[in-house]
Amino acid sequence: MVAPMIEGDKKTADAEPGPRNPEAGWFGDRAVEPRAKTEMVHGVFDRVARRYDLMNDLMSAGTHRLWKTSFVAQVKLRANERSLDVAGGTGDIAFRLKDRTPAADITICDLTEAMVRVGRDRAFDRGLVHGLNVVVGNAEALPIADRSIDAYTIAFGLRNVTRVDDALAEARRVLKPGGRFFCLEFSQVALPMLRRAYDAYSFAVIPRLGEIVARDRDSYQYLVESIRRFPDQTELEQRMNQAGFRHTRWRNLSAGIAAIHSGWRI
Ligand SMILES: C[S@@+](CC[C@H](N)C(=O)[O-])C[C@H]1O[C@@H](n2cnc3c(N)ncnc32)[C@H](O)[C@@H]1O
Repeated sequence: MVAPMIEGDKKTADAEPGPRNPEAGWFGDRAVEPRAKTEMVHGVFDRVARRYDLMNDLMSAGTHRLWKTSFVAQVKLRANERSLDVAGGTGDIAFRLKDRTPAADITICDLTEAMVRVGRDRAFDRGLVHGLNVVVGNAEALPIADRSIDAYTIAFGLRNVTRVDDALAEARRVLKPGGRFFCLEFSQVALPMLRRAYDAYSFAVIPRLGEIVARDRDSYQYLVESIRRFPDQTELEQRMNQAGFRHTRWRNLSAGIAAIHSGWRI
């Protein structure tokens, strides 16, 4: 169930701050300790790594590819810039960045070794060896120097991070002044009729697909629940502002099924 890509609104964040890291105690709809959440998320991606790319194509009928291409086009990475793709998984964003800007220096950082191993194999298959580095690490405590990155990207990753506000603060820390932040993530569907259809599809079909294709219903149940728990477009922008990003904006993809948020470290 996917809708055509729609360029969405821009808004300015101006609301009062809420509690910090409110998602930390939730693994999908289950209340958990924050430490346990990180281990459970790691477990999900450890189990699904080999089937991850196939599942993405099946679940979205290939639409995730269009979203990712649109996302990377927005980054406008320049030759010799250094970019960090956090929660980079099997490499979809890094490969697209490299295709557009071969001279860029790109690092993938991901919590789950099994995911980046698949990514490494894919990189070798594509002959991508120069200017592409892989590191296992947590978005909340990046193994990356202060003020060393020109463009930070995170695609379908922030929703899985235990402490979202800590990850945003880390993103700002590693960016150079003048560096850009980009997040592609599932978001809240703007049209009520589409939202109902999307919900029905998500809860009925995605866990079942996970069961059949990845032999893992629970991981895909978590996926659907985590999407519903993730902050909507406006709240995420507010939290980016609280983390110190400026000139923040967002735009919807497919009527808000996904959204791209961006901001600058000044
Ligand atoms: C849905 S996948 C997205 C992969 C890739 N960015 C893409 O768009 O296909 C989510 C990734 O986030 C990673 N992840 C989850 N929590 C993380 C964290 N705290 N720090 C870094 N990576 C994390 C997982 O290991 C997984 O590879």
